Order: sequence, then C-alpha cells, then structure tokens
Amino acid sequence: MDRFVRGLLVLFLGLSTATCGGAEDEDLSPEVEAAVFELGSSASQALMGVLVTQLTTAMQEGGAVSAVDFCSTSALELTAGVTQEQGLDMKRTSMKYRNPANAPDEDETEALRYYESALAETGVLPGPWVQKAGRDEYRFYRPLTIAQPCLNCHGSPGEIDPAVQAILDERYPEDLATGYAPGDFRGVVRVSVPVDRVDSQGD
Ligand code: HEC
Repeated sequence: MDRFVRGLLVLFLGLSTATCGGAEDEDLSPEVEAAVFELGSSASQALMGVLVTQLTTAMQEGGAVSAVDFCSTSALELTAGVTQEQGLDMKRTSMKYRNPANAPDEDETEALRYYESALAETGVLPGPWVQKAGRDEYRFYRPLTIAQPCLNCHGSPGEIDPAVQAILDERYPEDLATGYAPGDFRGVVRVSVPVDRVDSQGD
C-alpha cells in the first residue's frame, strides 16, 4: 500500500504547486481574476486534501474494496462538508463521470472542453482557469490528472480488482470513468465564487 500512499502524496503536493498558466476569460479584470484565483485555489486545495487523506486512510485500512465503498458513500458528503466549511460551493466533475450527480452543467462543460482542446493542441494541460458564469458568479477550475493509484478504480478493466469492479458495476451501471492511463486528464474541481465575495475584498 506504500506505493499508493506515496503516489497520492506526490499528486497532492503537485496540486499545491500548480500555477496559473491558462488563457483567461477575456471579460475579467486582472484584479478580479487574481481574487477569484486566490479563493478558489485555497478552497479546492482544502477539498483535495480531505479527499486524498480519507481515501489514503481507507486504502490503508481495508484495501481497494473498502476504499471504493468509502468513496461511493462519502465523496459527495465530504465535498458538501468542505463546501460548508469554506463557504464556497464546490464540485468534482468530468465528461467521463462515474456518478451522474457529478455530470457537468453548461459552464463546466465549457471548462472541460477548454482543457481537452488545450491539451490536444499543445500536449500540455493548462493550470487553473477562471470563468465568469452568469451575472452573479465566477468559477475557478482546478484540473485533475490520473496518477498510478487512481488506476485501482479508474484504470482499464484488467487493472481493476474483480471485487472492486463488482461494486462499481452494482452502484454505477452507467460508469464512464474507467479506461484511464497515468497522466490522462480526468476532470476538474469547480469552485463557485459569488461576485460579492470578490467585490467585498476591495480593489
Ligand atoms: C478506491 C477507489 C477509487 C480511487 C483509488 C479513486 N477513485 Fe475517483 N471515484 C471513485 C468513486 C467510487 C467515485 C464516485 C463517487 C461518487 O459517487 O460521487 C469517484 C469519482 C471521481 C471523480 C468525480 C467525477 C465522477 O466521475 O463521478 C473524480 C474527478 C475522480 N474520481 C478522480 C479520481 C482521481 C484523480 C483519483 C486518483 C487520485 C481517483 N479518483 C482515485 C473511486 C475511486
């Protein structure tokens, strides 16, 4: 299990040093973008920290079978908890989602497409991206990539333990989130920042 833990830690450390490399939404002033970036960055890091820690503990305690059970019963609940603690609505989403409750809305689809096409064109996944979504909301997106430990549950059929696969088949009959390889773009963490949170920070 050590390799798994190390992999997750590397992944998390990698996340915390991710920089802003993306093309910005043109309507945004640099001040607004920086403020949204700061709020989104720390909130999404808090969420990833909780998910990675809990997933690692579940893996250590009972292996992939107990971890997949844990993920499927607790991922959304943990996300809701961190959302409340941070005061900013958050979600993990992907074009290839496992849980239909994580399916992307229109603005999230735009962000996912932005990452997909940037990756296809340049071979490099851009860093976090800030978007204006509707009149009252900005959105911060943090891209997620697949690392080795993720293959336990998001790899190709041969890489997933049959007992894990059985749980996935039962709980997610329409699962789209398998067949990934290390380095693949998996999806994003989306953080919603209400416009008044940015305005009230003063500029
Ligand atoms: C132990 C099994 C397991 C491992 C390991 C795992 N996942 Fe998942 N993942 C799941 C399950 C189960 C869900 C569905 C959770 C739910 O019902 O909300 C999920 C959902 C997700 C989602 C939300 C979108 C969707 O498809 O519903 C993302 C993003 C995600 N995983 C990324 C990753 C990444 C990146 C890694 C590696 C760091 C990883 N996962 C490792 C089991 C796992």
